[in-house]
Amino acid sequence: MFGKRTNAVQLPPAPGKPEADKRTEPAPQRVGKVAQEKVDQFNELKTRIHRKLVEQLDLARMTGDDDSIREQVREAIGLLCEQENTLLNYNERQRLISEILDETFGLGPLEVLLGDPTISDILINGPKQVFIERHGALEMTDVRFRDDAHLMHIIDKIVTAVGRRCDETCPLVDARLADGSRVNAVIPPLAIDGASVSIRRFGTDPITWDDYLGFKSCTPEIVEFLKACVSGRLNIFIVGGTGSGKTTLLNNLSSFIPDNERIVTIEDAAELQLRQPHVVRLETRPPNIEGKGRITIRELLINSLRMRPDRIVVGECRGAETLDMLQAMNTGHDGSLTTIHANSTRDAVQRVETMVMMAGFELPVKAIRQQFSSAVDVIVQAQRLTGGPRKITNVTEVQGMEGDIITMQDIFCFEQQGINPEGKAFGQFVATGIRPAFLGRLKAAGAEIDPAFFERQVLLTDEEM
Ligand SMILES: Nc1ncnc2c1ncn2[C@@H]1O[C@H](COP(=O)(O)OP(=O)(O)OP(=O)(O)O)[C@@H](O)[C@H]1O
Ligand SMILES: [Mg+2]
Repeated sequence: MFGKRTNAVQLPPAPGKPEADKRTEPAPQRVGKVAQEKVDQFNELKTRIHRKLVEQLDLARMTGDDDSIREQVREAIGLLCEQENTLLNYNERQRLISEILDETFGLGPLEVLLGDPTISDILINGPKQVFIERHGALEMTDVRFRDDAHLMHIIDKIVTAVGRRCDETCPLVDARLADGSRVNAVIPPLAIDGASVSIRRFGTDPITWDDYLGFKSCTPEIVEFLKACVSGRLNIFIVGGTGSGKTTLLNNLSSFIPDNERIVTIEDAAELQLRQPHVVRLETRPPNIEGKGRITIRELLINSLRMRPDRIVVGECRGAETLDMLQAMNTGHDGSLTTIHANSTRDAVQRVETMVMMAGFELPVKAIRQQFSSAVDVIVQAQRLTGGPRKITNVTEVQGMEGDIITMQDIFCFEQQGINPEGKAFGQFVATGIRPAFLGRLKAAGAEIDPAFFERQVLLTDEEM
C-alpha cells in the first residue's frame, strides 16, 4: 500500500499567497514566519497523535479497499485530535490530519513534494535540508524530517518496497518509487552529515519534442534531422554530464523508431517510456544480501542479441558493455542508441577508451578508436548550461579516422554568447554548413534530406532579455 501516491488534503491557499506556492508550504514548518514555539508545539502534537494512532490501529487487520482504510484512519486521527483537546483552527487541523496520513500511508514530509509535478529533483542532505529542482533551478525548501531516525524510516520504506535494504552493511542503495522516480540513498557513515537521498522524478510530466522547442532546447531543424537519423537506422551516442538531459533525449530519440520494429531496452533503473507496441524492457539486478545474483547491463546486452532485436536501446554504457555495444553496432544491429556520461564529444571517445581498457580488454587504443568510428554515426550532446537551461548543444557526425585520430564534425551546434541578467546562459543555434556524408545512406533507408538543409545559417537565437 505504501509508496502509492496519497491524495494529500488540499488546503485553500492562504489569502494573498500565490496559487503555485500552496503545495510546497507546510506552513507550520516555515520558520521565521510562524513563531518557532508554535511550530514545535504543532510538531509535538503531531508526533503524539501519530504515536497514539500507531498504538490503537493495526493497519494489517483493517479491512476494505485502500480508500476506505484511509477514511477510517482519517476518522481515527480526527477523534484523537478531539481527545487531545487541541486549539487548532480548521486549516491547522486539516494540515495535521494530512501530515499524519502522509506519515502513515506515504513517505511523510516527501509527499507534499511528490505531489508537485513541477519538481524534477528532490535532494535531501540530512533531515534538516531538503532542496528541489524546478525549471532548472535549485531551491531550498522548508520541508524537514524530525530527526535522523525519521529520515531513515522513510528511506527504509522506499527501499523495502522494492525488496532492497539500506543499513550499515548496505549503505548505498538504488531504488525506485511506485511512480517510477529514481532514488539513490547513501547513509552514514558514508554520508557524513546524515543520510543523503537523491530523487529524480520521472514519469510525471515527460518532456516531449514540443517541450524541447518551447524551452528552446533545440530547433525544429535539429528535430527533423534527428528524426531522419533514427528512422534511417544510424547508430547514435548521446553524451552529457550528470542531469544534463541524456535519458530524456534518449527517450525522445527512441520515439522516432518506427512502430513495426522490435525494440529491446536495457537499463539500470527503467526510466524509458517508449510508446511503440513492440518493446521488451530489461532491467539490471543488483546483488542480493549475500552478494549473489547480480545481472549487469553487459549480460543483458549479450542476451538481447539473441532476442532478434531490430533496435537495441541501452540506458547508459558505463563499463565493459561499451565494447559489446560498439560490436553490436558494427555487426548489423544498426539503429542502436545509448548514452555515455561525458562532458564533450571528444571526452566521450576518451571515456570509451578508458571503459574498454578498464574492463580488461587488451585492445590497442587505435583498435578501440576504429571500433568507435565505424560503429557510431552521430553523437548528440546534451548540456545543462549556466542558470539551468538544458540544450542540445552539438549534433556531431563521426566521419572516420585520420591516422590515429577520430575525425568528427559538428553539423549543428549551440554557441553560447553570454549570461543574461537573470543569470541564464543565452546564445544561438547554428547549422555549421557541414553536409554529413551519410546522406546517401539516409536516402537509401527512405529518410532523405535535401542537402540545402545544411547550409550555414543561424537557426534560432535566445533573447538576451
Ligand atoms: N530539454 C530540457 N529542458 C528542461 N528540462 C529538461 C530537459 N531535458 C531534461 N530535463 C529535465 O532534467 C532532469 C534531468 O534529465 P535526465 O534524467 O534526462 O538527465 P540525465 O543526463 O539522464 O541525468 P543522469 O546523469 O542523472 O542520468 C529531468 O528532471 C528532466 O525532466
Ligand atoms: Mg540518465
